[in-house]
Amino acid sequence: MSEPRRRLFFALWPEPATRAALAGIAGAVQLGRARRVRPDNLHLTLVFVGPLEAAAARACAAAAARVEGQAFELEIGTLGHFARARVAWLGPVAEPPALGALVAALRTQLAAADLPFDPKPFRAHVTIGREVRQLAGVPALSSVRWPVSAFALVESVSGADGVRYQVRGRWPLRPGGRDETARPPVR
Ligand code: 2AM
Repeated sequence: MSEPRRRLFFALWPEPATRAALAGIAGAVQLGRARRVRPDNLHLTLVFVGPLEAAAARACAAAAARVEGQAFELEIGTLGHFARARVAWLGPVAEPPALGALVAALRTQLAAADLPFDPKPFRAHVTIGREVRQLAGVPALSSVRWPVSAFALVESVSGADGVRYQVRGRWPLRPGGRDETARPPVR
């Protein structure tokens, strides 16, 4: 029998206060009968890796540990819609260079380890609804400050009540202006 595979992706995983604030502005968006993303699943995908067997999943975590990234802050305050995917999302008002650099560094380390990932151009977004045909209107959103000091490896687990995301590893980003060499995973 083939080994079970874990569906993995790298993401920014908000701390509880940021998550609550994101859920707050997401809740203000009218989504009609669309499927809302549950608050505890809100995240920003950095790189979608896909299903991996155990050894490859370990290699994926090892690749993450080799990523050198800098901490940054996001201001989430825009609303958008991917028509083809029928996804409504919240996005950053501006993309800090450290965010693009983090995505690039992850892709570089995954490629160097011969691991797969979705190569589509990166679009920073936090999905808030699925099966969204169109946005009913664009409300005046208040923005949410999201301090980012780590990134996460997340597993997508399907259950009877839908998909749940579980953080499998977490690695810190270097605080701005400081040079840290020893960077163990954060649990
Ligand atoms: P989405 O929210 O825009 O659908 C887990 O599936 C996470 O990975 C979701 O945030 C999803 O984005 C993202 N993702 C990115 N590329 C994907 C792909 N090719 N297949 C599935 N999910 C993908």
